Amino acid sequence: MARYDMAVLPGDGTGPEVVAEGVKVLKAAAGKFGIELNLEYFDIGGDRYLKTGEVLSDSEVERLKEKDAIYLGAIGHPEVKPGILEKGILLRLRFELDQYINLRPVKLYPGVDTPLKDKGPEDIDFVVVRENTEGLYTGSGGFLKKGTPDETAIQVSINTRKGVERCVRFAFEYCRKRNKKKRLTLCGKTNVLTYAFDLWERTFYEVAKEYPDITTDYAHVDATCMWMVKNPEYFDVIVTDNMFGDIITDLGAVLQGGMGIAAGANINPEGVSMFEPIGGSAPKYTGKNMINPLAAIAAGQMLLEQLGEDQAAAAVEGAIMKAVANDLKSLSAGKMGYTTTEVGDLVAGYI
Ligand code: IPM
Ligand code: MN
Repeated sequence: MARYDMAVLPGDGTGPEVVAEGVKVLKAAAGKFGIELNLEYFDIGGDRYLKTGEVLSDSEVERLKEKDAIYLGAIGHPEVKPGILEKGILLRLRFELDQYINLRPVKLYPGVDTPLKDKGPEDIDFVVVRENTEGLYTGSGGFLKKGTPDETAIQVSINTRKGVERCVRFAFEYCRKRNKKKRLTLCGKTNVLTYAFDLWERTFYEVAKEYPDITTDYAHVDATCMWMVKNPEYFDVIVTDNMFGDIITDLGAVLQGGMGIAAGANINPEGVSMFEPIGGSAPKYTGKNMINPLAAIAAGQMLLEQLGEDQAAAAVEGAIMKAVANDLKSLSAGKMGYTTTEVGDLVAGYI
């Protein structure tokens, strides 16, 4: 029997509620497919920070590095200044565990409403491969003369050949394995960011030579946003840097039905990966049993995939698809026709 050590970080706001349903579904899938999941819960997030002043300790990071996977609810607390928890927990884990890929599928399931007129599930099915450890996210930069009339703020985008290449390579491999349209689009801004995206573009076309079966393509980030809305069916896999990937995946999430369903994976293909719903802590719904847990459940599906438990992952996806096709009235919090726990029960039941 396959056995995995999994860290569970419920985190802030509605994180614990959605993670509870995700764990329920993971346990159902594990039971069915003969997988043993050994869960360790970590109390990490805004509440603990407010109580103890500690965001994330070195020893916790070390313990997380020993796990087979990390399952995260949400980070973000209304009483904590923006940046502290995000940088201290989410970004720190992405960086220290070298989770250099942020994988975000954008897939519209039958029965789910998209805001795009005349587009359906056959049109909206692509994946964004977002670089996850570099770009504008490294915290490189600073202030000069802060608080004076002459103040200057500098925020630097770091793009290393090694970091770009491993991301691009992952995207080519992923596109090949996915085996759909076999088209990989580099999303950048070569007309303005003439250093960063020059490096990206050269790397992209060099690596492309090793993948003659993949059609390559380039789009500026602004045009990418336009095409995502106008012709989403054009896309198969998009690879891009950290900041652009952050932005276009929120747009992608809306196309697939919103934050109630959108999941992401922070992947270190050679190390420990972390899986999360991308919607955040949603403080206004906290404790109300109203939030949609499907995004967290879908993150669990990605976790199973990364562990190589493809059958279990497919069963979770199938169960999500049944729930959205047969049962849920909407994917929005409070409008599902079911409570958070009931949605978890439904999906677990379908497994
Ligand atoms: C995401 C989030 C994070 C990011 C925030 C919370 C730091 O928006 O995972 O997309 O910008 O990466
Ligand atoms: Mn984001």
